[in-house]
Amino acid sequence: MAQFTSSTSGLPEVRDVPRHVAIIMDGNGRWATSRLLPRVAGHARGVDAVRTIVEACARRGVEYLTLFAFSSENWRRPPDEVSVLMRLFMTALQRELAELTESGIRLRVVGELQAFEPRLRELIAKATARPVPEPRMTLTVAANYGGRWDILQAMRRLLIERPELAANPDRLEESCLEPYLAMAGTPEPDLFIRTGGEQRISNFLLWQLAYTELYFTDTYWPDFDAAALDAAFASYRSRERRFGRTSAQVAASA
Ligand code: IPE
Ligand code: IPE
Ligand code: MG
Repeated sequence: MAQFTSSTSGLPEVRDVPRHVAIIMDGNGRWATSRLLPRVAGHARGVDAVRTIVEACARRGVEYLTLFAFSSENWRRPPDEVSVLMRLFMTALQRELAELTESGIRLRVVGELQAFEPRLRELIAKATARPVPEPRMTLTVAANYGGRWDILQAMRRLLIERPELAANPDRLEESCLEPYLAMAGTPEPDLFIRTGGEQRISNFLLWQLAYTELYFTDTYWPDFDAAALDAAFASYRSRERRFGRTSAQVAASA
C-alpha cells in the first residue's frame, strides 16, 4: 500500500537532546496540600519551576519548549483559583519578558485567547510581538488550549479558505490541515513530559503527539528541577523511535 502523506512518514534525526519538549506541568495543588498550604501557593511555586526549566532547556540546546499552562477544561475549577492563575500568568509575563528576550528566547502563546480578559490579552499581544532575532529557543505557552479545540478551529479555518475541499474530501490530506493548527511551523514534540503522577494527555497536543515519546514522573511540578529534566532526557535517549518500522530498518537507516 502506498504511504499517505504524513508528518510521521520520515524518521526524524535522532539527537541526544530532544529538539522539541512539551510539558504538562501538573501537581501544583498536591504539592501545596502535602505541605498544608493553600493550592494557590503551589501555583506560585510552579512559576519558579517554569523559570528553572525554561533556562535549563535553553542551556541544553532544546529549540522548542511548549508548556501547558491552562487547559480549556481548567475553567471548571473554583473561580478563585482561576483568577489566581490568571493573575500569576499576568505577573509572570510582565516580570519575565525582558529576561526572556535578553536570553534569546522567543515567546508564543497558543490557545483560545478571546476568552481572556482584555488586559491579559493586551499583555499577551505585547509580549509575543516583541522581536527576538535568531532565537535560541521558542517558548510556547498553551493557555486556554485544548487539542480538540485546536483541530476544530484549524478545520473551520481551512474550510473557509479552501471551500473546494468540502466538495472533494478525498483531496484533504494531513498537510492541508497542519498550517491552520496552533503549532503550525513547529516540529512535532520529540519528548512529552507530565509531572504529578497522572498518566494521561488531558486534551493537550492531540494531533502533534502522534509519535512523541511519552515520559511520566511522580514528581510534582514545583519540585521538577534541572536534575529531573536530565532524568527525562536520559529516558528519551534510551528510546528507539521506529515510526512503524522494524528495529532492523531503523538500524539500517542510521
Ligand atoms: C497544574 O497543577 C496547574 C494547572 C492545571 C494550572 P494542578 O493545579 O492541576 O495540581 P494538582 O493536579 O491538583 O495537584
Ligand atoms: C492539565 O492538568 C492541564 C495543565 C497542566 C495546564 P490538570 O490537572 O487540569 O489535568 P486533569 O484534569 O487532572 O487531567
Ligand atoms: Mg492537576
